[in-house]
Amino acid sequence: MSAQTIQLSMPEPDIALLTFDTPDKGANVLSRSVLDELSTHLDELEKQELAGLIIISGKPGIFIAGADLREFVESLDVDEEHVVALCRRGQDLFARLSKTPFVTVAAIDGICVGGGAEFASWCDRRIMSDNPKTEFGFPEVKLGLFPGWGGTVRGPRIVGLANAVEMITSGESIDGRAAFDMGWAADIVSVEQLMSAAINLVRSEQTHQDYLDDRKVWSQPIEIPETELGFLGVTASALIGQQTKGQYPAPQAALELMLESSMASAEPACQMEAERMVKLFGTPVNASLLNVFFLTDRNKKDSGIERSGVSSRKVNRVAVIGSGIMGSGISAANIKRGIPLTLTDAAHDALARGGRTTLEEAAFDRKLKGPNVERTLELAPLLNLTTSDSELAENDLVIEAIVENGDVKKKLFARIEPLLAPGAILASNTSTIPITQLATGLAHPERFCGIHFFNPVRRMKLVEVIRGEQTADETIATAVAYAKRIGKMPVVVNDGPGFLVNRLLLPYMNEALELLSEGAEIKAIERAAKAFGMPMGPIELYDLAGLDTAVYAGRTMWEAFPERIVASPLLPAMVKAKRLGRKTGVGFYSYQNRKQRPEPDPSLAQVIAPYIRQQGEFTGEQITPRLFLPMLLEATRVLEDKIVRDPRDIDLSLIFGLGFPPFKGGLMFWADTVGAATILEMLKPLQEVGPRMEPTALLTEMAASGSKFYSAAA
Ligand code: NAI
Repeated sequence: MSAQTIQLSMPEPDIALLTFDTPDKGANVLSRSVLDELSTHLDELEKQELAGLIIISGKPGIFIAGADLREFVESLDVDEEHVVALCRRGQDLFARLSKTPFVTVAAIDGICVGGGAEFASWCDRRIMSDNPKTEFGFPEVKLGLFPGWGGTVRGPRIVGLANAVEMITSGESIDGRAAFDMGWAADIVSVEQLMSAAINLVRSEQTHQDYLDDRKVWSQPIEIPETELGFLGVTASALIGQQTKGQYPAPQAALELMLESSMASAEPACQMEAERMVKLFGTPVNASLLNVFFLTDRNKKDSGIERSGVSSRKVNRVAVIGSGIMGSGISAANIKRGIPLTLTDAAHDALARGGRTTLEEAAFDRKLKGPNVERTLELAPLLNLTTSDSELAENDLVIEAIVENGDVKKKLFARIEPLLAPGAILASNTSTIPITQLATGLAHPERFCGIHFFNPVRRMKLVEVIRGEQTADETIATAVAYAKRIGKMPVVVNDGPGFLVNRLLLPYMNEALELLSEGAEIKAIERAAKAFGMPMGPIELYDLAGLDTAVYAGRTMWEAFPERIVASPLLPAMVKAKRLGRKTGVGFYSYQNRKQRPEPDPSLAQVIAPYIRQQGEFTGEQITPRLFLPMLLEATRVLEDKIVRDPRDIDLSLIFGLGFPPFKGGLMFWADTVGAATILEMLKPLQEVGPRMEPTALLTEMAASGSKFYSAAA
């Protein structure tokens, strides 16, 4: 039998305390066995004459992190009855907390989300700590589900339908203070006072018995005028439609459920919740989003190196060279996390611009939709702008983000390497130039690696840490630990042209230009990519990356893989016409409007006309495989070349570096759902396009053996 998670104690003769603390685990999760333990405890406690029961966690900073998702995955293909039973089991067990002959209080410090938040919401009262780690929410929609252990029933009854709809359909958590203000918590206190405040609450409820009135009200339908209900439905539905683009069904399903079940008593509302869960549980979107969760979890535990006993060095100060799009984004990511940063650039005006962008981005406030002045003043001392090399010596890590040109980068390295502190790491943010090639001429190639951020840095969590032939394990471990410290997801990749993400991106981007040259409309190309789930179309992405950078990157890829990368004359023509994309206000689109949104630009036609080879009409069904199959083929070559250690690294990288649709679970996960044999069929009609569409040996072999990319255990 496994060790117990829940310990019973009696802080006072008539007050019972259940402490959750799963042995040898960082977090408490509600697995089947923990639910069994809870049930056994309640069997005993219900028979006793108590004033109250308090539930607390023995883990600082974590109350309960939710249901056990590994158990979920095991039961994804169970039948409908089983899904209903899974929900009913949790609901019935937790509902006992709202029927005990004494008051029940959840004393919450730290993370209390998902099944944990449902569990707490079935208690009569909640108290929260003011610890910044305290977080309360229902993230189930992010897994393609809604709360199924009574969250959609208790939430609207405790904090009102509108509040519950907002929390449950967005999946966003709130802190202890916000939870208190909303009415979830009866009190908010320091961590040290949590236990005594819970005891006091039991005592006061023992006297006033207000909780008995609430039990009555919360078991009834919600009183809300029909017009208000209608208004809430319309506004929430519009917002959800805008955010999910119809690709994520859970938020809308949660909204509809809560609107309907609000008119029922709690018990039938629970039954409705369980029955509606059937439509979401085990669907492809649910399975894909669970996969994304596991990819993220796997990444958190990955130190980036196989060999044990390698430790990372602490990075206390960082310098960034080149204050353009990327340099300023990287700088902002550092100062936001409190890391002092020196930013340099060869050009004074670029440095001034980069410094300003860095601060604006670091102090950006979502609510204000602009920089927060106080935060700017707080962060400004962390940023040091200079055009002199001499200040590089103080840093533990120097990241180069200058123009994408190998010779220029190498010249810079030759100049600055002798100035760096002993042991300091030098890294390049190059998008495509092999790290081993850039390392030639360095005195310490073992302390050199790629740390490749993605654009826009504030949104893209991925960082590729690139291992050159001579890069030391300690350098990789340090880069991985540093990237995690600034809130990123580092994936270690072996060296090679385009590394991982750009190697997969380039064939896709390249194909968009080929389609354009074959007469496809920009609008149609963008629409197909977005319908597949990409956050923006490939043409807009060119503008975002900068067309000059794209030319350099394209050249590197073409030199490496001339048989399958088409060197489109379109890009150099755009650069020649000074249409570099967003950064110059015009590229394929124009950005000369107040909000700098991409707008079709009539003057583009003239620039690209000489390169449109034919007039053609393309439907979405024709465009989609043209865009995504070259990406998938390249991914199979990446696996053949052992650029990554696991196909899951490809999926994590594309989702968090490119915005590949999470609801598809990742490129390889998606390919597994389609099947290698079907993909071969889809490639057949594309053979006439060119050798770039030929199936690879790996794909052909997988189709023959019926194997999957995810067949190996994570
Ligand atoms: P950018 O053109 O916006 O900025 C480059 C900056 O470097 C300019 O301010 C320039 O004045 C400065 N610079 C040029 N030569 C220099 C030198 N010798 N010493 C000091 N400063 C110098 O370019 P961007 O887009 O920021 O790209 C920088 C690097 O990041 C490139 O290697 C690029 O491939 C890579 N990258 C670009 C991404 C993108 O989407 N733009 C994404 C990821 C990586």
